[in-house]
Amino acid sequence: MRVRNVAVIGAGTMGSAIAEVVATKGFHVKLVDISEEILQKALEKIRGELKSSHEKGYVTENIEDVMKRIKATVNLAEAVRDADIIIEAVPEIMDLKKRVFSEIDKYAPEHAIFATNTSSLSVTELATAVKKPERMIGMHFFNPPKILKLLEIVWGEKTSQETVKIAEEFAKEIDRIIVHVKKDVPGFIVNRIFVTMSNEAAWAVEMGEGTVEEIDSAVKYVMGLPMGLFELHDVLGGGSIDISYHVLEYFRKTLGETYRPAPLFERLYKAGHYGKKTGRGFYDWSGGKTNEVPFRAGAKFDVLRLIAPAVNEAAWLIEKGITTAEEIDLAVLNGLNYPRGLLRMADDIGIDRIVAKLEELYKKYGEERYKPNPVLQQMVKENRLGRKTGKGFYEYGRGKYEFVIVEKRENVGIIYLNRPRRANALNLTFLKEIDDALSMLEEDAEVRAIMITGVGRNFCAGADISIFASGRPELVVESSQAGHKVLRRIELYPKPVIAAINGPALGGGFELALACDLRVMSDKAFMGLPELNLGITPGWGGTQRLAYLVGVGRLKDIILLRRNIDAKQALELGLVSEVYPSAEFMEKAFEFAKRVAELPPLAVRYFKKAVALGVMPSLETGCFIESTVSGDISPSEEVAEGIQAFMYKRKPQF
Ligand code: NAI
Repeated sequence: MRVRNVAVIGAGTMGSAIAEVVATKGFHVKLVDISEEILQKALEKIRGELKSSHEKGYVTENIEDVMKRIKATVNLAEAVRDADIIIEAVPEIMDLKKRVFSEIDKYAPEHAIFATNTSSLSVTELATAVKKPERMIGMHFFNPPKILKLLEIVWGEKTSQETVKIAEEFAKEIDRIIVHVKKDVPGFIVNRIFVTMSNEAAWAVEMGEGTVEEIDSAVKYVMGLPMGLFELHDVLGGGSIDISYHVLEYFRKTLGETYRPAPLFERLYKAGHYGKKTGRGFYDWSGGKTNEVPFRAGAKFDVLRLIAPAVNEAAWLIEKGITTAEEIDLAVLNGLNYPRGLLRMADDIGIDRIVAKLEELYKKYGEERYKPNPVLQQMVKENRLGRKTGKGFYEYGRGKYEFVIVEKRENVGIIYLNRPRRANALNLTFLKEIDDALSMLEEDAEVRAIMITGVGRNFCAGADISIFASGRPELVVESSQAGHKVLRRIELYPKPVIAAINGPALGGGFELALACDLRVMSDKAFMGLPELNLGITPGWGGTQRLAYLVGVGRLKDIILLRRNIDAKQALELGLVSEVYPSAEFMEKAFEFAKRVAELPPLAVRYFKKAVALGVMPSLETGCFIESTVSGDISPSEEVAEGIQAFMYKRKPQF
C-alpha cells in the first residue's frame, strides 16, 4: 500500500508542523482540532512558516499550492474517512489519546495505519483503543520537524511488520531519518539519553562535583554540544524543566527508583521555576538577563562523568534488543545535535574507561543505574575497547572511518570529508582518518591523483574549537602540529592532490585546501580565514602558505580584514585553477582530476618535492612558530571572549 492521504489529529505545536512537512512533500493532509479558531491559527502559522522556507529557498513550490493540499476541519469522522495514515498529535494524556483513537477507529478505512506522535506513552497500551492493534505504531517526530529530520519509529507489542513497512516508506517520502525502537520503552532512544544525561548533570551539581555554569561550560565547549544541558532546559520551548521532571517521574515509575529526578530538578519544578518563561530555571532570567555560559568555566569538570552513564543507558537499549549502536548514534546526531555519535565518543574514550567510571560512581553513590551494563562488561572481557583495540561498538582500521569516505573512481582516489551536520569541521580523529586514507591511496598503484571534497553544502568549515576550552596551551600546540603534519604530508605526497572546493572553505578548511597542489572551486563557494573574529590566529599553516601563494600584502589584507574570497576573486588571485557552476561541480572537478592523473608519476613526485623543499624552505619553521603562538595566546581573555561571542552569535568586544 502507498500512502496518499494523511490525517493529522491535533493542530498544536507538533500537529501543525507535521502537517506542513507532509504537505510540502506533496501529500494531501486533513488537519483536525477541536475548534475553528485553533485551526485558523494553525493555518496562519503554517503559511508563515512556508513563507520563510520559501524565502530561504528550502521550498520552491508556490506556497498557496502547498496550502491547498491542507484541509482544516473539526469533523474527525470526515477527516479520517479516506486517510491511509492517521497521525495523532493531541496532548500527552493517555486517556485523551485513547478516546481519540477509539473515535478514529470508528470512521477510518480498514487499511489505515494509526500513528501516534507520543513522546513517552506506551504504544502497546494506546493500541488497546482500536480494533486492530497491529495497525498501531509510534511515529515520534522532533520539534521543529522541518529542521530536525529524525523520526523514531516505535513498535507496540502487536505492531505488525506490514505496518512498520508502510510507516517506514511514508517516513522516507517525507524526508525523515529513521531509527527503530523495537519495544516501546520509556523515553524511546532520544529522551532516554537526553533526560537521563540531564538528570545526571543535576545530580553532579547536587553532589558538589561542579556548578551549573561549570557543567554547562564543559558540555558546551569541551564536549561540543550546541548548548549546555541546563541552558537548553531553560530556553527550550521557553523552559522545559517541567517536561523533563514529568519524564523523570515516569522513568522512576517504570524503570525504578534510581531514575528519580535529582533534587535540583525537583526543587525547581516544585517552585514553578521551569526556565526562561517563568523568569527562573537553572539560571536567573529576571530583568532580561542573558546568562551566557562562560567559556572556560568547565575546564576542570570531566565530561566522562556524564558520558559514561549515558553510554550505560545506550548499552541497556542494545542489550534489550531495542535498537542498534548505529541507530543510537543517528538518533543523538539528528535529534540532539550531538557533535559526534555517543557510542563513537565511547569508542574514542575506551570502553574500559567508561566501565571504570561507572564502577567508581557505583562505589561512591551505590545507585543501580551506575552498574555497568552486561553489554559493556562483555566488551571489556573480549578486549573490544574501542578505537585503540580496533573494535568497540564499531570496527576501526583501514577504510573503516567515522568522518571520511574514500572512493576510487577510475584512476582518481576521492577523499570525501563526511561530517555534513558540522559543516565538515575537522577534529583530531578526522585528521588521522584523512592521513590513513592518504596512506591507503598512496599504496594503490592504480590511483594517480587524489581529490579532496566535502559532503553536503560545505567543503570544510575549519577545525573544532573545543580544544581551546581545555585551558591547556600544550593541547592547542599539539592540535596545531597534528594539522601541520597532515597538511605537510599532502605537500610532499608522491601523487598530485586536488582540493575540489564544493562550498565554503573556512579556517582549517581553507588551510587544508591551500596545502593541496591544485584547487578548483564551485561558483557558489567562498574561502576565508576568519580566525581573528574568535581571538585566535590561523593554526594550520594559513599564516604561511597563503603568503607563498598571494604574497604577504594580500595575506594581511585577507586575514586582518577577515575577507571572504569568492570564486571570481580566487581565480584572479591565482588561488584556484578553474571555477565551475555549482550544479555540475562534482563532474567537472572529477574531469579535472582525471586530466591531472595523466601526468607522469615520477616527474610529478620530484617536481612536488622540489617545490615543497626548495621554494618553501621556511614553511616548517613558520608552521612551528604558528603552533607555538597559537598555544601562547590560547589562555588569553581574547580567545574566551572571541569564542563565546561566536557561540552566541554576537560581536566580540576585544
Ligand atoms: P499542543 O498542546 O501544542 O497541541 C495539541 C493540540 O491538540 C491542541 O491544539 C489541542 O487543541 C488539540 N486537541 C486536544 N484534544 C483534541 C481532540 N480530542 N481532537 C483533536 N485535537 C485535540 O501539544 P504538542 O506540543 O503539539 O504535543 C502533541 C503531542 O506530540 C504530545 O503527545 C507530545 O508529547 C508530542 N510531542 C511533542 C513535542 C514538542 O516538542 N512539543 C515533540 C515530540 C512529540
